[in-house]
Amino acid sequence: MQIDFAKLQYQYQLYKTEIDEAIHAVLDKSNYIMGEEVTQLEQSLETFTGSKHAITCSSGTDALLLAMMALDIQPGDEIITTPFTFIATAETIAFLGAVPVFVDIDEKTYNIDPSKIEEKITAKTKAIMPVSLYGQPADIYAIQKIADKHQLKVIIDGAQSFGSTFSGRTDSNLGDISTTSFFPAKPLGCFGDGGAVFTNDDAIAAKMKSLRVHGQSKRYHHKYIGMGGRMDTLQCAIVSVKLKYYAKDLALRQEVASKYTKALKGKSIILPFVDTNATSAWAQYSIRVQNRDELQVKLKEQGIPTAVHYPMPLHLQECFAYLDKGKGNFPICEQVSNEIMSLPMNPYLNDEEIAYISNKL
Ligand SMILES: Cc1ncc(COP(=O)(O)O)c(C=O)c1O
Repeated sequence: MQIDFAKLQYQYQLYKTEIDEAIHAVLDKSNYIMGEEVTQLEQSLETFTGSKHAITCSSGTDALLLAMMALDIQPGDEIITTPFTFIATAETIAFLGAVPVFVDIDEKTYNIDPSKIEEKITAKTKAIMPVSLYGQPADIYAIQKIADKHQLKVIIDGAQSFGSTFSGRTDSNLGDISTTSFFPAKPLGCFGDGGAVFTNDDAIAAKMKSLRVHGQSKRYHHKYIGMGGRMDTLQCAIVSVKLKYYAKDLALRQEVASKYTKALKGKSIILPFVDTNATSAWAQYSIRVQNRDELQVKLKEQGIPTAVHYPMPLHLQECFAYLDKGKGNFPICEQVSNEIMSLPMNPYLNDEEIAYISNKL
């Protein structure tokens, strides 16, 4: 058997008629930039998430930039975040000249550990940026409490978690600003690059809308230093079709995760843990094993692709050597990154495939 990790082609075939129609409608109008499909998607995203403002943008990376620029993050400002994430989280902080201040992760959820945040707050701290890793929000209430006490902003990097919830609210509807990514392999993916920012604050929303188009207030009049950060009309049209079926996709991902957990219980594997307050969008089903490299090779031989998210924590990356946080600074993160391994995960993984993967494991 050959297992497909993300089944993107399968999904396209499933919705092909509607997606092709949506693409051709844009081609026929040739309204490639900021066409009506952009606003339509933003309205649907607001309805789905409950967030007052959804603003699409060019990627999950640019979404983080827009969020920080809207909050006026300046060179030298400190932003507290997790070292166990994709590079974009901390890269964008550093790109703006600010300083990523890492905090170790929780041993069970692999998200930032709120109990270790306060000791890292200084006079320069401006925001806390939790990441909803593998689809599960961090403990947002604990984080928000700390942020309120110290008058800090909360930016949620929800690139992996669109549709997840914490205490019944989507993680796009929490924090001061929340972001997401529509990278193709994300739970809600487009056919290229795309992303969105979410906020309930009218002024922040207006500023992010302006920043997305070079900080303009009206055509060729520029209030802020902004960026070319728009999402293509074509990509918006595609996501709009997929969003119609997304609640079903999320339920199917949850089912796949539950089946994996049932099949793998009792083996010498650490399984994913989802907090009772949270639901996960299950971007990944990531387990911990002692003999990962050997296991990956053997599984590949059996037609089972795996992935490692992420083999090297951000504090150990060459580009962050200047932060001077070498090995041993974030021990839980370092241990988890040595053991973590993601199994094939998508809404369409069938019982036969799940049984095959579990048995081979
Ligand atoms: C946690 C996290 N943040 C940010 C991003 C960046 O998103 P994009 O690839 O759309 O720029 C990703 C995507 O991989 C991610 O996983």
